[in-house]
Amino acid sequence: MKLETVNRQFAIDKQLTFVAGPGGLPTAQLKNRLASATVALQGAHVVTYQPQGESNLLWLSKLSQFKPGKAIRGGIPICWPWFANHPDDSSKPAHGFARNRLWEISATRRLPDDRLQLEMKLEDDAKTRQLWPWRFTAWLTVTAGSELEVELRISNRDEKTFSCSGALHSYFSVSDIGNVTITGLEGAGYIDKVSGDQLRQQQEPLAITGETDRIYLNTSADCLIEDQGWNRCIRIAKQGSRTTVVWNPWQEKAAAMADFGNDEYRNMVCVETANAADDLITLAPGEEHRMQTTISVETAD
Ligand code: BG6
Repeated sequence: MKLETVNRQFAIDKQLTFVAGPGGLPTAQLKNRLASATVALQGAHVVTYQPQGESNLLWLSKLSQFKPGKAIRGGIPICWPWFANHPDDSSKPAHGFARNRLWEISATRRLPDDRLQLEMKLEDDAKTRQLWPWRFTAWLTVTAGSELEVELRISNRDEKTFSCSGALHSYFSVSDIGNVTITGLEGAGYIDKVSGDQLRQQQEPLAITGETDRIYLNTSADCLIEDQGWNRCIRIAKQGSRTTVVWNPWQEKAAAMADFGNDEYRNMVCVETANAADDLITLAPGEEHRMQTTISVETAD
């Protein structure tokens, strides 16, 4: 990918430009009076997002590698066409291939209200068909303004029906995990991956005090990450998703990951807008599905 060519075709003034980011990965830089954001074209991966006057809402590991083919640890990886392990072949990459592939730019826009929009596209090829046999087009649209919108749109271009799962695997930055409560999931049932997939029910707002890996079922509710330390509240709204995943690896699992600092689990939590478990998406030829998350910041009461 030639940055010069891409800039000639898609840059918008000094507000949306393409640069060689960390590790030389081609990266879009969005910056104007409303917000700034960076998006790696590998994985159509939002790496940072900062609404005006705020620090980065998204967490990024200091040890993240920025290498071709390796998912970035932090920001918003796109998990697709399957979430977590492949349902019947664990030798296939966890969370699918979308986060490891280079996406192409399909459009950039400055909207009338000044929000900046970057649209990227991924289509099947011989390599994706080795892992997943169907023909598809996926578009990932990032709209950066005082809120961040991320939309994954999937179109079935095959002659057969396919099913897929996925997630906008959002990592959020927090002052300290001990200061954080997540609300919005009260009453929802969940699969507790930490205790061997037991089915449980969330009774109260969620405080994270140990390894947490949960798939909340049948919920379309907004979640709020209330952070007493920074007196800030992040709202995560969504559409086209009935699953919310909450993940924090805690000490031991964090230490076992090469791209995750030993103590960094204290400064992050993932609240993921997902289609997973019983929320599998089935698309007949020509059908489309959209899953969207909207992330915004509110000052805590
Ligand atoms: C979460 C899963 O969404 O992603 C966890 O629920 C998983 O089980 C985590 O460990 C991170 O996955 P990866 O492949 O990015 O290390």
